[in-house]
Amino acid sequence: MIDLEKVCFAYENEIALRYIDLHIEKGDSVIVQGPNGCGKSTLIKLLNGIIFPSEGEYLYKGHAITEKALKDRKFAKWFHQQMGYVFQNADTQLFCGSVEEEIAFGPVQMGLSEAEVHERTEDCLKLFGIEKLRERPPYHLSGGEKRKVSLACIISLNPEVLILDEPLAGLDEKTQDMLIEFLQNFHKAGKTLITITHNRQLAELLGTRFALMNEDHELNMI
Ligand SMILES: Nc1ncnc2c1ncn2[C@@H]1O[C@H](COP(=O)(O)OP(=O)(O)OP(=O)(O)O)[C@@H](O)[C@H]1O
Ligand SMILES: [Mg+2]
Repeated sequence: MIDLEKVCFAYENEIALRYIDLHIEKGDSVIVQGPNGCGKSTLIKLLNGIIFPSEGEYLYKGHAITEKALKDRKFAKWFHQQMGYVFQNADTQLFCGSVEEEIAFGPVQMGLSEAEVHERTEDCLKLFGIEKLRERPPYHLSGGEKRKVSLACIISLNPEVLILDEPLAGLDEKTQDMLIEFLQNFHKAGKTLITITHNRQLAELLGTRFALMNEDHELNMI
């Protein structure tokens, strides 16, 4: 489903990914671990089509993911609907006037009916226990509240692949437990998960395959 062949990426002079080979099948739950600065978030940005390989190739379901391919609006829409991505920093993701609008934004863009948008929005508000925040502007929420809203936004899109960068960071215990259970069920439903985490317990609970990146920006399956 996801195939990286000898992928390299550099930010100007800073190498972040070095000859990465990674093959992920539908239904895998891949945990990505490695020291700070090894390239984990960069890898995730690349998988999500925000940046592109400077060398090598990225295929999603057999389609080459390149800047040119994503200029085709129909293809880009399909691809971004497949991939749900939660940023490490929730602030960069929230831009609507209220939490409710923020969660409904994706489903509206997908062209769902008003009734379906309403249902998904309500389900996600309930799942994260944030019904009370529905009218609040997202940028005035606490850090943990913002993370819940960002997660709810992605989950409202019902993606095929869910990509998470430190999903438990900043969440209280109750929300952590709820999220872990949600992710386990998401995986049981046959969907694909890619999770970056330094949390060993989460890795054990969720992972079926483990990728380790090193300080030389290489990736090995362990
Ligand atoms: N926008 C950028 N411009 C230049 N260099 C960058 C940029 N973003 C990241 N880097 C560099 O690329 C390398 C990989 O960064 P990345 O954010 O992918 O690491 P990470 O593994 O996610 O680290 P962490 O565990 O701290 O989140 C680091 O050396 C970092 O300094
Ligand atoms: Mg990171």
